[in-house]
Amino acid sequence: MDKLIVEGGRPLRGQVRISGAKNAALPLMAAAILADGPVRLSNLPVLGDLLTMGRLLTFMGGRVELGGIAPNEAELDLTGLSRPEAPHELVKTMRASALVLGPLLARWGRAKVALPGGCAIGVRPIDLHLKALRAMGAEFDLSGGDIVARAPQDGLKGAEIRFETPTVTGTENLMMAAALAKGRTIVANAAREPEVVDTGQALLAMGAKIEGLGSDAISIEGVESLAGASYVVMPDRIEAGTFLAAVALTGGEITLVDFPHEALAPVTDKLKETGLTLTPKGPNLLAQSAGAIMAADVTTRPHPGFPTDMQAQFMAMMAAAKGTSVITETIFENRFMHVAELRRLGADIALEGRTAVVRGVASLSGAPLTASDLRASASLLLASLAARGESQIYRVYHLDRGYEGLDRKLSSLGAAIRRVKA
Ligand code: UD1
Repeated sequence: MDKLIVEGGRPLRGQVRISGAKNAALPLMAAAILADGPVRLSNLPVLGDLLTMGRLLTFMGGRVELGGIAPNEAELDLTGLSRPEAPHELVKTMRASALVLGPLLARWGRAKVALPGGCAIGVRPIDLHLKALRAMGAEFDLSGGDIVARAPQDGLKGAEIRFETPTVTGTENLMMAAALAKGRTIVANAAREPEVVDTGQALLAMGAKIEGLGSDAISIEGVESLAGASYVVMPDRIEAGTFLAAVALTGGEITLVDFPHEALAPVTDKLKETGLTLTPKGPNLLAQSAGAIMAADVTTRPHPGFPTDMQAQFMAMMAAAKGTSVITETIFENRFMHVAELRRLGADIALEGRTAVVRGVASLSGAPLTASDLRASASLLLASLAARGESQIYRVYHLDRGYEGLDRKLSSLGAAIRRVKA
């Protein structure tokens, strides 16, 4: 198991390219199940979760070439799928495995998917996915911890579905199922996240009929079949936001190449309030630190609100800001695992239910830290870049699940980070 040794206090300077979005790439890989031919994805980030999805699709009998053709490309041919099953050992490491359920039911009429367990950031059930698919005629039994699912003999049927709460992977699952269903499906209170739009656009390229992408009402007219296609994955807005928080914390100036301007607007608007200067340069962005961070409040919300996936990184910034900020997490009930570790660096954070009150301190100081989940580990890395002295971060496999070489990229900008076997 690797750990990171970070020597804080170095400003970041230079240029770095934003990778493809993990949360778009995962549903896009699952969408290949629907196609009658090979699907080629480019700008695919090479990170742990995608390797897990690749293993899952291979386990099912698909042909998955990840990085074989070109470094960030994959070709997926799932036309000869023989085992529509997602076993527990793969699902337990990655909840997004549930994304195969909709496509399997639509294309193969059956599926067996291990029930995702609890996870560090909250209970995260998939009840809304199941309820929506049930409305399309699917039936589910629970057997030995697996969801055993069947579509009606003549296939899934279009339905009118209203999500109680907008769910990102739920909307993607449903959109994929509806693409091959009979008739029209209307999804109300749909998730509007840019990754949902990216998934929809890839389905359009495969021949699906979808309207309303990016709004909370999506309409899908089922088609007989979908074809293989080539698709370029959108850039990762959360990775981009993580670099912006990093330069705010360390000082300096960096250029982010292939910056997802529109998708990240809810974050960039907030970061400007904290004193960061952001200048678009065509598809790139120049980010310049003012040397100090001003406190600002955030409340996480579904898109176009402030994303929960940036909450931990923002808290690292606020820990070193001038003034007091209030951070409220409304999406997940237990997403403050990073607080105890940030306190070890000297952060002054009081927790009350879903709200954290962060009093910025003049300086953080290095400490041994343990990562608890993906974004929490990013937040610890950022805070230790700003801290005086050395920090050691354990359990960085969380980081590797969701970022393509974050420590390597930060090092290329001047950060002092070493990766060693713990
Ligand atoms: C996705 C993202 C994750 C991000 C999250 C919220 C992927 C692979 N992951 O996760 O990085 O943090 O969106 O932006 O894209 N809920 C239910 N029942 C369900 C489904 C969801 O109660 O069946 C609840 C969840 O507990 C949560 C809220 O709905 O409170 C939103 O979760 P959801 O959008 O589904 O998150 P994911 O799709 O799992």
